[in-house]
Amino acid sequence: IPTAIFDDSQTASLAVAQEIAETIRNKAKKGEPCVLGLATGSTPVKVYEELVRLHREEELSFQNVVTFNLDEYFPIEPDSLQSYVRFMHEHLFDHINIPKDQIHIPDGTLDEEKVEQYCQQYEKKIKSAGGIDIQILGIGKTGHIGFNEPGSRKDSKTRLITLDKVTRTDAASSFFGEEYVPRRAITMGVGTILKAKRIFLMAWGEGKAPIIREAVEGEITETVPATYLQEHPNAAVILDEAAAEQLT
Ligand code: F6R
Repeated sequence: IPTAIFDDSQTASLAVAQEIAETIRNKAKKGEPCVLGLATGSTPVKVYEELVRLHREEELSFQNVVTFNLDEYFPIEPDSLQSYVRFMHEHLFDHINIPKDQIHIPDGTLDEEKVEQYCQQYEKKIKSAGGIDIQILGIGKTGHIGFNEPGSRKDSKTRLITLDKVTRTDAASSFFGEEYVPRRAITMGVGTILKAKRIFLMAWGEGKAPIIREAVEGEITETVPATYLQEHPNAAVILDEAAAEQLT
């Protein structure tokens, strides 16, 4: 899997934002929508910052952009501090000219018996939008992509999952205690992610170095869902020096 190592996360994020901007502009010229698969968490924050800057200072328009977020806690209210709806509006959507009806984020407020059908519709919406042109991903300590925890199958689709204990511990501080972290989440599947035409897996800092080594150099296994990306024809791993330090 092609791996690019940058001096720092800032430089790396600019490069990713640049490729996203180019794709948006090329598609706009052809009168086509550009479909982006988006992640939350700390990793993509600088990419979003740069996209906002490109919108404000370099006339990058998001009129033709359609977005699908990877995941959302379940259950969660959209206005709660930790919701991914709130995160995406604060970091990106409130600052660009994307039409509201072109934004899709899994709904953490559904009645449980409606979730399965909702997930099937989410898959259909991605398909009818033309499929994801660029998917950006972070990686969890468990090797999850989206919230596809260890044990997720390669052909998994959007669904309700149970979060790994490690993932809930990692989220504890933002929820002010592990007991307040939701036990479940809705996530796009591994299969959903692998259908994207282009994928960027980003990771920063030495804390991610061990799992990056496994994801990039380990054998492909459901125990580390990020290893499935090795089989994608057009995925790239984007790292800073610290996240790359355990690669051989
Ligand atoms: C978030 C997501 C997760 C994160 C991962 C890394 O939408 O899908 O897979 O990308 O947990 O989180 P950070 O970036 O906070 O280290």
